[in-house]
Amino acid sequence: MSIDEACLRTAVRGLRITADQGQVAAGLADLTVADLSAGNVVVKVAFAGLNYKDALATTTAGKVIRDFPRVGGIDLAGTVIASDDPAFAPGDRVLAHSRGIGVDHDGGFATHARLPAASLLPVPAALSLREAGALGVAGYSAALCVELLEEQGVHPAGGPVLVNGASGAVAGLAIDMLGALGYQVVALSSKATAAARLRGLGAAEVVLVDEIGDEGKPLARARWQGAIDSVGGRQLDWLIRSAQPRGVIACLGNASGNALSTNVLPLILRGVRLVGVNAMVYIDRQAHLWQRMAGDLKPVRLLSEIRLIGLDDLGAHLQLMLDGKADGRVVLALPG
Ligand SMILES: NC(=O)c1ccc[n+]([C@@H]2O[C@H](COP(=O)([O-])OP(=O)(O)OC[C@H]3O[C@@H](n4cnc5c(N)ncnc54)[C@H](OP(=O)(O)O)[C@@H]3O)[C@@H](O)[C@H]2O)c1
Repeated sequence: MSIDEACLRTAVRGLRITADQGQVAAGLADLTVADLSAGNVVVKVAFAGLNYKDALATTTAGKVIRDFPRVGGIDLAGTVIASDDPAFAPGDRVLAHSRGIGVDHDGGFATHARLPAASLLPVPAALSLREAGALGVAGYSAALCVELLEEQGVHPAGGPVLVNGASGAVAGLAIDMLGALGYQVVALSSKATAAARLRGLGAAEVVLVDEIGDEGKPLARARWQGAIDSVGGRQLDWLIRSAQPRGVIACLGNASGNALSTNVLPLILRGVRLVGVNAMVYIDRQAHLWQRMAGDLKPVRLLSEIRLIGLDDLGAHLQLMLDGKADGRVVLALPG
C-alpha cells in the first residue's frame, strides 16, 4: 500500500515537544500521519527505548532539538503499514535510530512514524520486535563501544573492564554483552539498590561511587584493562587515572555534564587511550552491529528483564532519567 489520503488521515498519539518563548515543554498530543515530518515510509511503532538524550530533549537546558514542535524518541521498532519506496512493503519489520530521528525528524514516542526509507533497517530475523525496541540506539551504542574496545586489543583474558553509570540503559546492555563474551566486568554505580541486578546481568563485581576512595593523585592504582564511560566528569577523570598501562576507555556519555578536568600523566606514562564514541560517526556499522546484537552480542539477560511502560507514564520516566534515578532498561510499548 502506498501513502494515500486515508493513510495521511490516520490518527497518531504521541509525546510532542514544544517551545514557547525559549521554554521547552513536553506533553501528549493527538495528531495525524500528515502532521509528522516528511518521509516515504509509514511505520506503526511497536516499541521505543527510553534514552538519556530523549530526556534531555524535553528540557530547555538540553538544547537537543532545534525545530519545534517535535515528536520525541530517538529510536523505534515497528511494522511498515504504507510505503512509497520499493525497498519496504507493508508488514516489513523495521527499526530506526540516529540519523536525526527524534531530534530533526519526528521520532518513536508515538503510535506512528513517517520516515525516509534510508533511515530504516530491517529487524534481523533472530530478534523479535520487542527485542529490537529494547536494544534500540542504546544497544547499538553499547555494541559499538564493545567493538571499539576489541579493535584496540581489549580481550577477555586481559583484565577487568569497568562500566560506569551501571544502572543506566547503555551500561546495562554493555555489562550483559561483555559478561557473555567472558570479560570480568566491574560495574560502577551510584545506587546500592542496583547491585543485585547488575550481578544478574553479568557483573563480577559492583563498586559504588561512594566506595572509590579516590585520593585525587595524578596516577591512581592501575586496575582496568578497559572501560565504557557513560558519565564523564570526575568519574571519567578517575577512570583515566586508574587504567592499566595501554588501558582503553570508550568515552560515550555525559550524564554528569560536559566538563572533564584531568592530567596527562596516565596518557604519557601508561599509554592510556581515550576512544571517543558517537553513534552517528560510526553509522556505517549500523547493519553490521545489529547482526552482532542478534548473534554474539545479544544481551539475553537484559532482554528478559526490560520494563514496558505506556505513553501515559513516559513523561515521569524521562524525569527519573534526568534526576539520575533511572534504573534498568525501560521501553515504551505502543498500543497494537
Ligand atoms: N555518544 C553517543 O553516540 C551516545 C549514544 C547513546 C548514549 N549516549 C550517552 O550516554 C549516556 C548514558 O545514556 P543512557 O541512555 O544509558 O542514560 P541513562 O539510562 O539515564 O543512564 C545514565 C546513568 O548515568 C549515571 N549517572 C551518574 N551521574 C549522573 C547524573 N548526574 N545524572 C544522571 N545520571 C547519572 C546513573 O547511573 P548510576 O546511578 O548507576 O551511576 C544513570 O543511570 C548519556 O550521556 C547519553 O547521552 C551517547
